[in-house]
Amino acid sequence: MSKVIKGGTIVAADRTYEADIRLEGEKIAEIGPNLKGDETIDASGAYVIPGGIDPHTHMEMPFMGTRAAETFESGTFAAASGGTTMLVDFVLPGEDGSLLSAMDDWDKRSAPQICTDISYHVAVTGWSEQIFDEMAEVVKRGVNTFKHFMAYKGALMVEDDEMFASFSRCGALGALPLVHAENGDIIAELQQKYMAAGTIGPEGHAYSRPPEVEGEATNRAIMIADAANVPVYIVHVSCEQAHEAIRRARQKGMRVYGEPLIQHLTLDESEYFNKDWDHAARRVMSPPFRSKDHQDGLWAGLQAGSLQVVATDHCAFTTEQKRMGLKGFPLIPNGTGGLEDRLAMLWTHGVETGRLTPNEFVAVTSTNVARILNIYPEKGALIPGADADICVWDPKIEKTISATNQKSIIDYNVFEGQKVTAQARYTLSRGEVIWAYGQNSEARPGRGKFVRRKPFPAVNRALSKWKELTAPRTIHRDPTNIPSGV
Ligand code: URP
Ligand code: ZN
Ligand code: ZN
Repeated sequence: MSKVIKGGTIVAADRTYEADIRLEGEKIAEIGPNLKGDETIDASGAYVIPGGIDPHTHMEMPFMGTRAAETFESGTFAAASGGTTMLVDFVLPGEDGSLLSAMDDWDKRSAPQICTDISYHVAVTGWSEQIFDEMAEVVKRGVNTFKHFMAYKGALMVEDDEMFASFSRCGALGALPLVHAENGDIIAELQQKYMAAGTIGPEGHAYSRPPEVEGEATNRAIMIADAANVPVYIVHVSCEQAHEAIRRARQKGMRVYGEPLIQHLTLDESEYFNKDWDHAARRVMSPPFRSKDHQDGLWAGLQAGSLQVVATDHCAFTTEQKRMGLKGFPLIPNGTGGLEDRLAMLWTHGVETGRLTPNEFVAVTSTNVARILNIYPEKGALIPGADADICVWDPKIEKTISATNQKSIIDYNVFEGQKVTAQARYTLSRGEVIWAYGQNSEARPGRGKFVRRKPFPAVNRALSKWKELTAPRTIHRDPTNIPSGV
């Protein structure tokens, strides 16, 4: 059974042209004029773009004494309604520390629920022979990215020696290290100072995580990656200090990737000073929203190519969960939503304002992600043979974002009241229409697949300069040093 997407303007990362697309089963079969098929999908007056890929989400993630409330089902359906056809979710090891049992746990939860395809990044939160060994198995199971947290002291945070060991291991396995770059030691100090001084509300979250802590950690992560001779991907880049470190490294020839979030591009720090505690707490995430100057820098980075992708870090907690921090901002679960609105917000604030071309929009929401994560052109491309993950993107559907009409199951939306100028008319996942605007589409849990990502080819693979440090060994820490709240 074939389908033809007819009458649209194809926007790829590299060009824009008029053509139809014929799909056979799950794949794109042909692109050209006047194609015929068993079924027609009307794209007239619309753009036809590769389905969005959100490289950074946390569905149902256990974190800060609770669990992110967005489920794999609600999250992937919400994503599809916004034109996104794939999420890359973060797997966190549990109490046994095993990467493999954490992956099993994620598989068990995600497989029956997902409406779109997903993939994983796996977090390395300590260092031991077991982790050294399991990393190889993780790569065999189709994950080529490992996440490292430089923040969340006493919980997820890794030290420099652990990061260096893990980065070196990544290099040997053909995997890419990802980093949450904030200096966790300084944050812990500042949290205590602000709490002691009586600044206990959400504004304390912003004060205790200034741009300097992000800039320092970003520099450090990049230098550690340079020492280990591996590329590195910095998640949720929010400020000029971090961006500058990335720019400098790239100019030097290093492979360093930077990922701003749609939230940091469009919301600013004034949110934390809102008189309504719930409003401010709902927007508590790390790094925090920044000033307009930092926002301008992030937009410039997307334009110049020093930042390559736009994600959401969707890690959504209900208002009730956020209220765990009523007695002190360090206890507010960190995270915000955004995956349903990423494309519409970026189009409205990026393309409609002339900051990004439609082709750049496609690059940063899909194609660059696929390339960096090594799934291109199976994903992120509109070419024969690619997966038919496609969005018919209608630049004439206006909408006011509101929690009252969203697909996410969270009771608020950080973009509440924002007017956006485009929406997904249709979203197709491997050839199947999973979202049709205004036609009461429903979630189809369990139809999504886990996408295996191959290790990076040997030719791109860094050879560690420090062979002896890539051998398995264990680094012990004092587990009693756990601050409350994380
Ligand atoms: O505040 C955030 N970003 N929450 C999700 C976990 C993380 O740090 O990515
Ligand atoms: Zn993070
Ligand atoms: Zn995250």
